[in-house]
Amino acid sequence: YRNLRIALLGGGSVGASVASLLLEHGEELANRVGAGLELIGVAVRDLDAPRTPAIPRELLTTDAESLILGADIVIELMGGLEPARTLILQAINSGADVITANKALLATHGPELFEAAEQVGAQLYYEAAVGGAIPIIRPLRDSLAGDRVARILGIVNGTTNFILDLMDREGASLESALATATALGYAEADPTADIGGYDAAQKVAILASLAFHTTVPLESVYREGITEITRDEVESARKAGYVVKLLAICERLTDAETGVDGVSARVYPALIPISHPLAAVHGANNAVFVEAEAAGDLMFYGAGAGGRETASAVLGDLVSAARRHVIGGPGVAESTHANLPVLPIASVTTRY
Ligand code: NDP
Ligand code: HSE
Repeated sequence: YRNLRIALLGGGSVGASVASLLLEHGEELANRVGAGLELIGVAVRDLDAPRTPAIPRELLTTDAESLILGADIVIELMGGLEPARTLILQAINSGADVITANKALLATHGPELFEAAEQVGAQLYYEAAVGGAIPIIRPLRDSLAGDRVARILGIVNGTTNFILDLMDREGASLESALATATALGYAEADPTADIGGYDAAQKVAILASLAFHTTVPLESVYREGITEITRDEVESARKAGYVVKLLAICERLTDAETGVDGVSARVYPALIPISHPLAAVHGANNAVFVEAEAAGDLMFYGAGAGGRETASAVLGDLVSAARRHVIGGPGVAESTHANLPVLPIASVTTRY
């Protein structure tokens, strides 16, 4: 039974939860994987900053470069373009698999990172980069790979959904709702990314690239945020039978003038009829509708932001990456180390 060495870059909202869950459930995850998962350190900027949940002091370091040397798997949860990009490239080139939730980086430098990984046979996992806890990357990349996606329509930013929801249901101002979203760990380090629609644009670029098997550059995503939306507008929309939601849309389109088939990706506040399922997406939840030619309509729904929720997706990637180290292949093998007993039917209290 070997130990896999895990380096964590970032101990903020998501990183602290990943460290905490890994330390708490490490043995159970190790049984699923067939190898020990040893957290060798957590790189941060400020060793003395308060962290929720707390990270054992002896794991903290400010030397991210040294930490990744000798790691089998590197989890990047620092955010931002640099030094995240350089550290991920260093990790890949030192033979590690990498897990990231960094949609800004993927939407900006994704092709460079994927090519670097391919060159050395490493894997880059990013389930947490879109939709927080919601499994959407694997379904698009793997489960729907045999179908043809026509359109994706979704709420992919938890912070703006939380803000618009508070404006609608409690008459809150954008500023006060944003302050609450920030305190709850939903917002980006610079919340302009959320309210300006940049975060949603990065996510729709990632979704469109996966769904349409192409590279959708961030610059080609049309973007409007929610900064101009007022409480009065939200109230008027409600009286007219609508809610305001920041929508991310990508679809196959034929250019009306040239007749050329292509992909359109865009983000803007939209009026959603109250009866529509998207109108019922409250708080920091996200929802992604996928319209596929053969599968029909699929809906993915759940927590779109939050440290613990997002950590779930990161740890799912960790299990995949660790299984790949143990058994080889893409890291999607069934567990061969189940250790829970099968209960007799009598111990199930509610039967249908
Ligand atoms: P935070 O800002 O809360 O945490 C960032 C962490 O990285 C901090 O611990 C910080 O250290 C550390 N860090 C930043 N820069 C450096 C550096 N140069 N050297 C060493 N450490 C550094 O971010 P989140 O946890 O919210 O987000 C992390 C990533 O996950 C981002 O890419 C974000 O977009 C993504 N994400 C976030 C979600 C959320 O709900 N928050 C959901 C889905 C994805 P220190 O603590 O000392 O300042
Ligand atoms: N700031 C992001 C959001 C985090 O609010 O959706 C999840 O990606």
